[in-house]
Amino acid sequence: MIKYLSIPKAALMAVLALSFLSATAQKKNDDAKMNAFVTNLMSKMTLDEKIGQLNLVTMGRAITGSVVNNGVEERIKKGEIGGVFGVYGTEYVSKIQDLAVKESRLHIPLIFGLDVIHGHKTIFPIPLGISATWDMALIQESAHIAAKEATAEGLNWVFSPMVDIARDPRWGRISEGSGEDPWYGSQVAKAMVRGYQGDDMKNGDAVMACVKHFALYGGAEAGREYNTVDMSINKMYQDYMPPYKAAVDAGAGSFMSSFNTINGMPATVNKWLLTDLLRKQWGFKGFVVSDYTAVNEVTNHGLGDLQTVSALALKAGLDMDMVGEGFLTTLKKSLKEGKITQQEIDLACRRVLEAKYKLGLFDNPNKSINADREKQDVLTADNRAFARKIAEHSFVLLKNQAQTLPLKQSGTIALVGPLADNHSEMLGTWVIAGDPSKSVSVMEGIKNVAGNNVNVLYAKGANFTEDSLLGARAFPFGLSQMKDKRSPQELIDEAVETAKKADVVVAVVGESANMTGESSSRSDITIPKNQRELLKALAKTGKPLVIVLFNGRPLALPWENEHASAILDAWAPGTEAGNAIADVLFGNYNPAGKITATFPLSVGQIPIYYNHKNTGRPFNGKGSAKFKSDYLDISNDPLYPFGYGLSYTTFNYSDVKLNKTELKGNETLKATVTITNTGKFAGEEVVQLYISDPVASVSRAVKELKNFQKISLQPGESKEVSFNVTTSDLKFYNNDLVYDWEAGQFIVQIGTNSSDTHSAAVQWSK
Ligand code: BGC
Repeated sequence: MIKYLSIPKAALMAVLALSFLSATAQKKNDDAKMNAFVTNLMSKMTLDEKIGQLNLVTMGRAITGSVVNNGVEERIKKGEIGGVFGVYGTEYVSKIQDLAVKESRLHIPLIFGLDVIHGHKTIFPIPLGISATWDMALIQESAHIAAKEATAEGLNWVFSPMVDIARDPRWGRISEGSGEDPWYGSQVAKAMVRGYQGDDMKNGDAVMACVKHFALYGGAEAGREYNTVDMSINKMYQDYMPPYKAAVDAGAGSFMSSFNTINGMPATVNKWLLTDLLRKQWGFKGFVVSDYTAVNEVTNHGLGDLQTVSALALKAGLDMDMVGEGFLTTLKKSLKEGKITQQEIDLACRRVLEAKYKLGLFDNPNKSINADREKQDVLTADNRAFARKIAEHSFVLLKNQAQTLPLKQSGTIALVGPLADNHSEMLGTWVIAGDPSKSVSVMEGIKNVAGNNVNVLYAKGANFTEDSLLGARAFPFGLSQMKDKRSPQELIDEAVETAKKADVVVAVVGESANMTGESSSRSDITIPKNQRELLKALAKTGKPLVIVLFNGRPLALPWENEHASAILDAWAPGTEAGNAIADVLFGNYNPAGKITATFPLSVGQIPIYYNHKNTGRPFNGKGSAKFKSDYLDISNDPLYPFGYGLSYTTFNYSDVKLNKTELKGNETLKATVTITNTGKFAGEEVVQLYISDPVASVSRAVKELKNFQKISLQPGESKEVSFNVTTSDLKFYNNDLVYDWEAGQFIVQIGTNSSDTHSAAVQWSK
C-alpha cells in the first residue's frame, strides 16, 4: 500500500487500466477456445446425445419428490444423461464418471451435483443462522470449506445459494435463505458464490454454484409451500430480484428455476424470466436447470401435457431438466413436429457443455476425485473449529434480563428440553452428507466447556410435539421412535423436580429440523404447545430460565419474551452446536448476531418486514388508532425488528454527524457516529445504515438498509464509524422500472437495529 502512494496517480491508473485490458483480452481468448471446443464436440453429437446432455437424474440421496430415476448406469453409457445428483464419495462417483468417460460414445464427463446447503460433511448453521453473522468473510469461507469438502468427495456442482427473499415465516424454507432484505441478501449471495466458485472453477477445490430458486419462490401466498406467487412488478424489481442479480454479477455458473408461477406463468416455462430478464437484461452466461420435476409439474399448473410443457420450457430458456425426463422423452418428437427448433436444443446443449468446460471436466473429469483428499480435507479439526466459530457468530441474544447470561462456571444447571441431549437435531434442515453422530450435543458442549466446574442435571421435559397432525406430517418416518413414552405431565414433573435442585435452568427447546425447511410450512409459528407447557412449569419454579432456542424461522415468542430470563437464538448450529452454545452461555464468546428476518408478535401480522411502505394512513402507535392502518387487537410493531440482537455488553450511539447537509450530483456524503462500549464485556456490534427517501415519484419503503459495519470494542472504548453514501445508495425502480435516484431530501439513519436509529437529513440535488 505504502509503495502505491509513491507512484503518481496517472501511472497507477494506467497500470490498472492495462491489467484490466489484459484480463479482458484473456477472457476473450478463453471464451474463443471454449467456443471452438464445444462447437467441435457438438459437430460430432447426434440429436439423442444432445438431448441426453439436458437430462439430470438423481441417484438416491436427495429425493424431494415422488419421482426417482431408474436404470441410470446403463443410460449413462448410452449418452442419455448429462448430470447426476444425490451421490458423493470418491469411489462411487469415480465409478459413475467412468461409465460416462470410458463407456459412452463421445466420453463426455458428467456433472455431479448435490444439495450442499450449509456445509457438506462439516455442517455449519442453517443459512438463516449464517446470515445472522453479518460477516461476509465468514460467510464466504463457509462456502469455500463446503466446496473443499464437496470436491474431495467427487462433487463439482452445489444447489446453493438459495437467495430467495422471504418475509413470511410460515414458509419453512425461510430457514434456507438470508431473510427479508434485498440489499443484505445481495451481499450474502455474492459472498456465497465467491466462496463456492473461487477465482476459477477449474480449481480442485471449487464447485459451480447453482443459484435458486429463480424466481420469487419466497413470496408463496400464505407461506404455503409451492404456492402461487403474485406480486407487483415494482416489488419484484425493488425487493425480490436484487439477490439473484447480485449472484449473476458475482459470476454464478448456474441457476435453478423455481416451482412457482410469476404473473400466472410458471417460472420453469417463463421466457420473460429465463431469457429476457436473466440473460438479456442481466447478462447471465451460464445454464439454467429446473427444480425437481418442475417441468412435469407445469402440467399441474395447467399448461398442457408433458410434451407441450417440455417444449415450452426449452423455448423459455431452460437448459436442463431435473429428474422428470420430459426433455429426454419428448423433445425429439417436438422437433419433428416443428414445435421446437434444432437451434433451441443446440443452445441448451452448448450451455451445459460450457459449464463442464468451465469446471475443467473435459481436461480432467476426475479432477476432484481423490481418495487422499477425501481423508485429509473432510471434517478436519480446522473445519470443525471454523464450524464452532461461525455458529457462535450466528447466535442472536434476544433477551437478557438482569445479565442472566453469561452463566457462571460453577453451581448446578438443570438442562432440559427435547433438544438438550440430541445429536441429529444439531445439524438442521438440508443435511445430506452430514453425519449426526459426529455432532456435539448441548449436553456434551456444556461438559466440554465447563468441565467439572458445573454440575449438570438433565431431564428431557417434553417431546418435540404431542400434536398428532404436526407429528405425522413433520416426521413422516415416525416420531414415535424418538418419543419418550412417558406422558407430557410426567416429563414436566421430572423437569420441574430437576429445576428445583439447580441454580439456573437452561431449556433447549423449539423446532425440530423436521419442522423447518422444504415442505414444512406452519400456520402456527409458536413453540409447540407441549414445550410451552414445559416452559410455563419451569418459569413457575422461580429459577432463572434461559431458553436456548432452535428454530428454522422467526417464531412468535411474546410469552417467552415476557417470562424467560434470557433467550439465546441458536437456529440449528451444525456439527459443533454444543460447543458453540456452551462457549456463548459461559461468556467465552459474547454474542453479536442480528436477525435478518423480523420476528412477529403473532402469525396475524405476517407478512411483516421493516422496509414496508408508509401507507396513506400510517399509525405510529401514538394517539387515536381509529381509521389508521393498524389492528384492533395487536400492535403493528414486531416482537424483534430486523437487525435486532443484544450483547452481553451495551453500546451507546452518538448523534449522526454529516460532512455536509447539501449535496449535488456525484458528491459523496460521509455520515459518522461514535459508538461506545458502555458495559463490562468486550463485544462486537453491527452498526447499520438505513436511508429513507420521503418524497419520490413512487411510494418508497419507510427505510432501506444500505450498509453496515461490524466493529469490536473493549469495555469503555469508543470508535467512530463512518459510512460513505453515494447516489447509487439512493437509487430505486421508478414507475417505468428505470433504476435511478431523484433529487430531494434523504434521511440517513444509523443504529443498532432497524427500529432503533439516530437520524440526520440531507438535501441532494441533481
Ligand atoms: C428443492 C431444491 C433442491 C432440489 C434437489 C427440490 O425439491 O426445491 O432446492 O435443490 O430439490 O434436491
